[in-house]
Amino acid sequence: MCRYIVAISGASGSAYGLSVIKGLADAGHEVIVTASREGILIMKDETGVDISGMNSAAGIIAEKLGIDKKSIIFYPEDDLHAPISSGSFETSGMVIAPCSMKTLSGVANGYANNLIERAADVMLKERRALVLIPRETPISAIHLENMLKLARLGVHILPAMPGFYNKPKTIQDIIDNVSGRALDLIGINNDLYRRWK
Ligand SMILES: Cc1cc2nc3c(=O)[nH]c(=O)nc-3n(C[C@H](O)[C@H](O)[C@H](O)COP(=O)(O)O)c2cc1C
Repeated sequence: MCRYIVAISGASGSAYGLSVIKGLADAGHEVIVTASREGILIMKDETGVDISGMNSAAGIIAEKLGIDKKSIIFYPEDDLHAPISSGSFETSGMVIAPCSMKTLSGVANGYANNLIERAADVMLKERRALVLIPRETPISAIHLENMLKLARLGVHILPAMPGFYNKPKTIQDIIDNVSGRALDLIGINNDLYRRWK
């Protein structure tokens, strides 16, 4: 069993983050979850998962995903004393899903202003796996420059651009096409999407 971080920032598409959390938990890993204030509001709006009260956030997410509550630990974005703020706390990698352009900028510039940005900064300094699932359209030159900067540092940039060659039948199929690719990038076996044969 390994330990991974999943961060949900305030872009559209928190369902991607939830799918990554489920994939990791189903594979038997511990998942440290954090979310920004905007991420929490948008997740409530888009998926109905309401952790705005913060109490028992892990339980609410686990119930929604049908996974064991013990596989998730949740920290809010302003908890900079959380273990994932430190490189001495062992983790195997981090996925930011979805990644807003603000969070992308914070990570690209080492701003470390909240727990998401600090945990990502730790991944960079400790040279651990970091996957960003940016979601914005259209994309400005600033966004592209930030992505390029991170890609050159070895960060996996996996835009929320689902493929359609596997003929998705449901919205969840489309979501899982992206989240399955994110899990691939951190070496997690999964059958979330149908692979091209
Ligand atoms: C409904 C809604 C949808 C949004 N979608 C996006 C998006 O897809 N991508 C993005 O970069 N920002 C989006 N934003 C703007 C971000 O939420 C905003 O920039 C926020 O400051 C991001 O903060 P965070 O990165 O700390 O979560 C959206 C905002 C709202 C209210």
